[in-house]
Amino acid sequence: MAKLTKEERYEELLKQLEALIEGVTDETAVLANASALMATAFPEWFWTGFYMVHNGALVLGPFQGTVACFRIDKGRGVCGTAWQREESIVVPDVEEFPGHIACSSLSRSEIVVPLIDEAGTVRGVIDIDSTELNTFDDADRKGLEKVAQVIVHSLYSRGL
Ligand code: SME
Repeated sequence: MAKLTKEERYEELLKQLEALIEGVTDETAVLANASALMATAFPEWFWTGFYMVHNGALVLGPFQGTVACFRIDKGRGVCGTAWQREESIVVPDVEEFPGHIACSSLSRSEIVVPLIDEAGTVRGVIDIDSTELNTFDDADRKGLEKVAQVIVHSLYSRGL
């Protein structure tokens, strides 16, 4: 089979994610399977998971990868900055990002995409790390923003 482009890999991932989480409303269950699906779709990623807003801070959520920091304050690191700015951040080289939080010294590049509900509130972030520089680009940002939308819609849109 011909090698899929990054965009095609995201299309596949999104189809699988939509089918998998259809009708599931438990947050941990959805995020756990979403992290497994993303890590399977992109086995080259080093750390794939979620930090979720709890009591005014980002708290480690379901993930695939090595042990990570438990808690990140607003405005701290890439995750806390994406939360504060309410927008995705692509970091080509973590050493160039002021305040980057190194959970693993192996992490060289990173992308963080906020989960923003329909009321405009950031519920958490998707955080992906790579051991290579320059892993993530605009195709990842667009693909992961769609992943975020599907998750947010499934978990938080009821009753709005
Ligand atoms: N590097 C992130 C912290 C989380 S770990 O990489 C899993 C940051 O600066 O927000």
